[in-house]
Amino acid sequence: MIDNKDVQKYLRSAIEAAEAGAQIQKEYLGKKIDIKLKGDIDLVTEVDIRCEEVIKNILMNRYPDHLFVAEEAAEKNGVDNPKSDTHQFAWVVDPLDGTTNFAHGFPVYCSSVALCMNGLPVAGAVADPTRDETFSAGLGLGAFLNGEPISVSPTKKLISSLLATGFPYGIKTEKRNNLAEFGRVVVEAQAIRRPGAAALDLCYVAAGRLEGFWEFHLRSWDMAAGALIVAEAGGKVSMSDGADFTLSRSDIVATNGHIHDELLALLKEETG
Ligand code: IPD
Ligand code: CA
Ligand code: CA
Repeated sequence: MIDNKDVQKYLRSAIEAAEAGAQIQKEYLGKKIDIKLKGDIDLVTEVDIRCEEVIKNILMNRYPDHLFVAEEAAEKNGVDNPKSDTHQFAWVVDPLDGTTNFAHGFPVYCSSVALCMNGLPVAGAVADPTRDETFSAGLGLGAFLNGEPISVSPTKKLISSLLATGFPYGIKTEKRNNLAEFGRVVVEAQAIRRPGAAALDLCYVAAGRLEGFWEFHLRSWDMAAGALIVAEAGGKVSMSDGADFTLSRSDIVATNGHIHDELLALLKEETG
């Protein structure tokens, strides 16, 4: 168990760290940046690395006994799951979610920071430097946008729903590349977007700007903060087969709750 005072303390740290990452993104905007390819289409920039350093400094100075799980560190140490035999608490960080957008100057990207206890998120924050919006949630405390409570949309039907999704970097080779599922859902929803920053997509479900979001090949740092924020905003988060959500797998379906079963049923038609 964790008490509300501790959750509040961790939430303040998550917000501070995510906003520090977003501040770095603001400072680099419009400047010429060093960009490298990790795969065919997967980029890493000096901003991803700088944001991760700044976030790590804030969190590890404060909580040296906690595990630090982050995208760029994982490239070297392979640690990508906050459920650990050695650590009860793990910070799960995407220093820059939406790197492709950032590299092109397309203004949809953020920093995402969550604290997990025994693998489950208990506090999380996602900071968007373009709009000066920080989404956050603490387990049992609710979800917030710039400190004000938020909740999911009341829309009841998929045909009235605005959805978001994403496609994996391995779109050419992955069996489950989401093209069939996209094709099936797009004709049954009001519209679908592919904004390009999964952590923000989840926050938009929490804030009622989207009714739902799904994706199949995400990592723990894409989902940890956003999944908690959706749940605390009154939404529903599960695996794409309807099983309880876990950061140990890579798929996610997050909705306002009302359209969850309808969306799961369509996804199931394509993936069985
Ligand atoms: C990516 C974004 C994108 C999602 C990809 C992620 P990155 O994260 O969240 O929206 O579709 O699956 O990998 O690489 O920009 O941190
Ligand atoms: Ca990401
Ligand atoms: Ca990233």
